[in-house]
Amino acid sequence: MPDDSTGSTAAGRAAEADRRAVSDAADAATRPVHAPGEVLLEVKDLKKHFPLTQGIVLKRTVGHVRAVDGVNLRLRRGETVGLVGESGCGKSTVTKMLVALEKPTDGQILYKGDDVTKLSGRGLKQYRREVQIIFQDPYASLNPRMTVGDIVAEGWSVHADIAPKKGRLQRTQELMERVGLNPDFVNRYPHQFSGGQRQRIGIARALALQPEVIVCDEPVSALDVSVQAQVVNLLEDLQEDFGLSYLFIAHDLSVVRHISDRVAVMYLGSIVEEGTEDQVYGSPSHPYTQALLSSVPVHEPHLRGLKERIPLEGDVPSPANPPSGCRFRTRCWKAQDICAAEAPALVDRGQGHPSACHFAEARHVVPTE
Ligand SMILES: Nc1ncnc2c1ncn2[C@@H]1O[C@H](COP(=O)(O)OP(=O)(O)OP(=O)(O)O)[C@@H](O)[C@H]1O
Ligand code: SF4
Ligand SMILES: [Mg+2]
Repeated sequence: MPDDSTGSTAAGRAAEADRRAVSDAADAATRPVHAPGEVLLEVKDLKKHFPLTQGIVLKRTVGHVRAVDGVNLRLRRGETVGLVGESGCGKSTVTKMLVALEKPTDGQILYKGDDVTKLSGRGLKQYRREVQIIFQDPYASLNPRMTVGDIVAEGWSVHADIAPKKGRLQRTQELMERVGLNPDFVNRYPHQFSGGQRQRIGIARALALQPEVIVCDEPVSALDVSVQAQVVNLLEDLQEDFGLSYLFIAHDLSVVRHISDRVAVMYLGSIVEEGTEDQVYGSPSHPYTQALLSSVPVHEPHLRGLKERIPLEGDVPSPANPPSGCRFRTRCWKAQDICAAEAPALVDRGQGHPSACHFAEARHVVPTE
């Protein structure tokens, strides 16, 4: 039973969200892909290499963790791009660079055509307002000593023009109501809320700055499945109302499928396959995507036995010492000599969408009607 209700009105909303969660599968199948808008955010050959040091007093660099190693992404206005991959593949490092919390080692992040790494002063302040983040951990990402009202309104101390001081309490309560929280709880502390409610506080905090883009770093991974659906539905409603664009990060392909127009699959620091939700789910062509998809649960009872099982063997290699050529080769059942010698480019080899595999070939993994 989800504990994501905040009073009679919010309980009604939660029930409505539950009802909608049941029809998610049907909705996902018929949901129209957003008409492509202008490119808001573009990532070009983005890299982040963390130095590996040795010695306590005299530190010397003995290598680098190639956390992100040549990522290319595009996010258009009003669109949701899903970024998926196993733990440690570099998703959060991409996120941190996008919201200017980490500086790239190399590559470019362009926002409305401007190079973000070169922004400073007013330009950087505006970027930090327009591109917001929602964190994975709804427990660690909220200051336990601040009330919900103070958390939501915190950004207005820097961006005072958005909300005049006089009406801030009312504005805060409106935002709480909009994300499904009881506005009477404005003076409560984060520990008085459930995980789902805390994530709603994080969403209200991001919305308070009237962003254009929200980078959602595994926003539902820490939540119960029933609460996950409610939060995803809320994000979809907010996108519709405010014309938001999302980069939605997850390790669970089924979560990304629900919300994404396009999906990028990441492995050991780079994108291995990219396409529309239909292309990546209907005809995955990279062996890694195929294996990931084969572990996604099928909800329709009559289709359950029809899914292919492709076990993914071995661990992800260390990003400090990635394999030569194709980084997936140590776990790939199709690997040949060329895979160790040459890194495959992320291009369309006739399968209809880009895939970083020398032997990319569409394969039907998840059964459809
Ligand atoms: N500050 C840092 N210094 C050194 N290595 C780092 C640092 N931050 C991340 N890493 C390493 O970079 C790699 C990618 O980490 P990242 O947190 O981006 O992965 P992730 O895909 O978000 O994983 P998860 O799904 O567990 O959140 C990991 O090997 C991690 O240990
Ligand atoms: S390039 Fe080779 S090792 Fe890499 S995914 Fe394709 S077949 Fe497998
Ligand atoms: Mg992460």
